[in-house]
Amino acid sequence: MNGRVWLVIGSTGRVGREVVRELSRRGEKVRVLVRSPERAAAFPPEVERVRGDLADVSTIV
Ligand SMILES: NC(=O)c1ccc[n+]([C@@H]2O[C@H](COP(=O)([O-])OP(=O)(O)OC[C@H]3O[C@@H](n4cnc5c(N)ncnc54)[C@H](OP(=O)(O)O)[C@@H]3O)[C@@H](O)[C@H]2O)c1
Repeated sequence: MNGRVWLVIGSTGRVGREVVRELSRRGEKVRVLVRSPERAAAFPPEVERVRGDLADVSTIV
């Protein structure tokens, strides 16, 4: 374990979901920023979900 955590934004989209899948397959620690956590339901349980919307700064800081 190297302590590195990958933050994937856009993880529920066409590109992002493949990024999450490949990082998870490689055993990397992944955190996803999602507007709706239920849209991340298909990710492996070890993927950390963080709710946030880039269009709403109050959800990011
Ligand atoms: N697909 C391609 O072949 C391709 C090729 C070259 C470049 N790109 C670029 O790569 C990027 C992603 O493409 P994609 O095809 O994966 O897009 P996509 O399937 O439409 O997915 C967009 C992702 O961005 C998230 N998102 C949108 N607005 C957001 C916001 N305000 N805050 C947080 N997350 C937000 C969406 O989350 P929700 O689930 O909440 O909607 C979704 O996960 C785009 O900029 C696209 O132009 C794509």
